[in-house]
Amino acid sequence: MQQLVFATNNEHKLAEVQAMVKDLFSIRSLSDIQCNVDIPETADTFEGNASLKSEYIQSHYGLNCFADDSGLEVAVLNGEPGVYSARYGGSRDMEKNIDLLLSKLVGETNRKAQFRTVISLRLEAEEHLFEGLVKGTIVSERSGAGGFGYDPIFIPDGYAKTFAEMSSQEKNQISHRAVAIQKLVTFLKNR
Ligand code: IMP
Repeated sequence: MQQLVFATNNEHKLAEVQAMVKDLFSIRSLSDIQCNVDIPETADTFEGNASLKSEYIQSHYGLNCFADDSGLEVAVLNGEPGVYSARYGGSRDMEKNIDLLLSKLVGETNRKAQFRTVISLRLEAEEHLFEGLVKGTIVSERSGAGGFGYDPIFIPDGYAKTFAEMSSQEKNQISHRAVAIQKLVTFLKNR
């Protein structure tokens, strides 16, 4: 079986991808390859950061790999928080991140936003990018206890509940990450 490194230690993401590629690829995490560094994410786009991470693994470990980067983009805030989603309020405190975002949208009628993921896949000398996005709106008050990050304030288009009010199966069928991963898996299967 071919091996492929996924530049993450997020168990949930690893299990999701491994289930989708089944017996075609064996997915290894950063800890599986003894990579304990915080890979620099200094670019100002999702594409740039995903690419930096996959490049780091390939150049330091000589392994084929893929990496992802994602976040929330709010239309009236010119795409903020974007690549700063995890630390928008100054730290990884999601309560503060959400409070800051909601405070910037007080009185705003255009609540359009999207979650976006970019995956960078490196196979030998080739790089391939895959994008997934889900459009929706930002509500003014948190709702729901599931999910993570900005899920309690995001309602995907076509639904009447936030990501945090959905079961993980329901969210994983429509999420930005699922769309990008599906594109990656289709590409790998057709090679
Ligand atoms: P990552 O690149 O997947 O680690 O995502 C970076 C940040 O974007 C996270 O820390 C969250 O704040 C936000 N984010 C990404 N995906 C989601 C999601 O599915 N729901 C809510 N927030 C998300």
